[in-house]
Amino acid sequence: MNKKTVREINVNFKTVLLRADLNVTFHPGSTEISDDTRIRESLPTIQYLVKHNCKVLICSHLGRPNGSIVEDLSMKHISKRLSNLLDMPIRLIPDCVGETVTETLKSLGHGNVALLENVRFYVEEEENNHEFAQALSAPADIYVNDAFGASHRPHASIKRITDMLPSVAGLLMDKELQVLDTLLSFPTHPFTAILGGAKVSDKIETLKNLTELADTIIIGGGAAATFLKSAGYSIGKSPIEEAHISSAADMINNRQSSIILPVDVIVADSFSNDAIYQTVNITDIPNNSRIMDIGPDTATMFKEVIRSSKTVVWNGPMGVFEWEPFSKGTISIAECIADHTKAMTVIGGGSTADIVKYLNLANRMTHVSTGGGATLEFLSGETLPGVVGLLNQN
Ligand code: 3PG
Repeated sequence: MNKKTVREINVNFKTVLLRADLNVTFHPGSTEISDDTRIRESLPTIQYLVKHNCKVLICSHLGRPNGSIVEDLSMKHISKRLSNLLDMPIRLIPDCVGETVTETLKSLGHGNVALLENVRFYVEEEENNHEFAQALSAPADIYVNDAFGASHRPHASIKRITDMLPSVAGLLMDKELQVLDTLLSFPTHPFTAILGGAKVSDKIETLKNLTELADTIIIGGGAAATFLKSAGYSIGKSPIEEAHISSAADMINNRQSSIILPVDVIVADSFSNDAIYQTVNITDIPNNSRIMDIGPDTATMFKEVIRSSKTVVWNGPMGVFEWEPFSKGTISIAECIADHTKAMTVIGGGSTADIVKYLNLANRMTHVSTGGGATLEFLSGETLPGVVGLLNQN
């Protein structure tokens, strides 16, 4: 990526608006943080700015409040953890624009950090509103986008703001872009992409792009049903996306990559944790059952491909991972990727990142992205809205 980072401009003693993605997950029904990875990953840029005596105004969204003030989605639930991890006090500002911000800034010393209130409390954020972006930018000299996970959203604090201020990438953004750029522009071959998850529609553009770049595409999860159907198999009651059957067939028949589909699957009589299930060959899927996971022969076949690859990117579980009877395929693929230390291994954020973290395998991957949707959009060949407006390197 040919974008300037915070290291390549003079930030000394500047007021910096830092867009981070502090959209962490909470334990169900509470505001207790369950996974603070995104806060931790944001620290290097904040520390860099502190070290360079900036006044750091951190701006983030949390959840989807849809333009109204939602107490449970206040940044106050983030500030304590951020402060602890940074090991310094953080000023929490109860708004993200206007006088409250300006006033706080007057008494904020250089090398200090303030956290703005949830930017999505304003409906104008998601509208990419010009005046709102102007108000956000007003107190700052420089804009730094470190919110890779939200950089596929054309929102005011992500996109429009780059019209207002000199804009550069943060260190996390830079790391994410460099890894993904390597995958698309100069991967070491053989290059294997593994795509799973419930739906084909979420990944169709990514798949189309990767089928021109990767040597092999492995398809698992619910998405496999649409591909199996397009290849002429009976897939019982498995949900499929009719609209994508012809695209799936086109990818199998006409693209550069070799597409590998399951050869056996675990099927169940209903979509539940305690459903009656069995392993069957893909030629024998009963009419009254649906695919819940890849089978053991498929896992063996997929793992052979992974072991012979030099670059691996994975997005989407192989089955209904949340339910133990249908989690084995996903676990075996995760372990195989983690064990394959000679390859560049990239986990494409979202639920796949959650799974490798849950399995304690994250630190054995080359890179675990902080962005699910953003990674998929990047891999589809799009320039992300949050990256377009960043300054180019000379
Ligand atoms: C994410 O969690 O993927 C990012 O923070 C973006 O959030 P969003 O999907 O609500 O835009």
